[in-house]
Amino acid sequence: MTMKKVPRSWSKGVVMVCTHERSPESGRVSCTKSAGGGLRGWLKDRIREEGLRGEILAVTTGCQGVCPANGVTVCLARAQAVGDAEMLIVDPAGDREALWGKVVALARMEGG
Ligand code: FES
Repeated sequence: MTMKKVPRSWSKGVVMVCTHERSPESGRVSCTKSAGGGLRGWLKDRIREEGLRGEILAVTTGCQGVCPANGVTVCLARAQAVGDAEMLIVDPAGDREALWGKVVALARMEGG
């Protein structure tokens, strides 16, 4: 399989909700699946109720590197801010290097 570009499933913005959960033995805090997943579910319902499907997408993510002691980390990205963001269908094993090439190109872009 080769990476395939597909149209974005949202036009105005994406809401990224952390659902990362560490084991209690790790000694580190995390947003948790239940809190983050609950918030994402609520957002998803609200997006539908308010007629914003196709404009705003709420997704779950892993750790976003903030890890609050209380609360859930949420990142909001406007379509305008991400500009020509690519949405790709990726073979999780076979496309790794091609994907990494895109990640590196992203990191080297001017004006990030
Ligand atoms: S666990 Fe949620 S940001 Fe790190």
